[in-house]
Amino acid sequence: MGRDGIFSALNTAAFLANLAATVVLLALTIRSGRAGRRRRHYLLAALTLLSLAAAIGQAELYGRAYRFEPLRLRVHLCCAALALLAVPFVAVTGWRLRTRPQARPAHRRAVGAFVVLAGLAILTAGWMFLNAEPRL
Ligand code: HEM
Repeated sequence: MGRDGIFSALNTAAFLANLAATVVLLALTIRSGRAGRRRRHYLLAALTLLSLAAAIGQAELYGRAYRFEPLRLRVHLCCAALALLAVPFVAVTGWRLRTRPQARPAHRRAVGAFVVLAGLAILTAGWMFLNAEPRL
């Protein structure tokens, strides 16, 4: 394996590790919210969003090395944009739930939408890489 090959393998490993960290943090955030462990929940929610931001930045850099089929790219970007759009709803409903128990169904719905859309974004990213062509 040449120098470029090693860098590309390291890049792939870093990208996948960051993605896995985001998914694990998200699962821990959901668990702490369900258990009513608020301080832990706020910390984990912040870490999840930071890790998500890092994964998106890394994905953008990583994706520059490939050429994607335009339709697949568009479907993936659509899912990713919708998932990001759900984030402010998660934050606002969570903020309200601190003092208003009536906000629980709204926080649940916002979290549900975010989880489904983020899952779709990850799945469509995999689909997009299936027929991606490396740029030389
Ligand atoms: C990635 C972001 C987040 C996820 C995935 C998430 C998820 C959840 C889940 C699944 C619950 C349990 C709901 C239930 O019992 O039915 C919950 C509860 C809660 N969340 Fe979040 N949340 C997130 C962000 C936030 C933020 C940013 C805040 C506020 C600043 C917040 C505040 C709360 C509060 C106050 C509760 C209620 C805890 C209790 O029952 O004592 N959440 N969250």
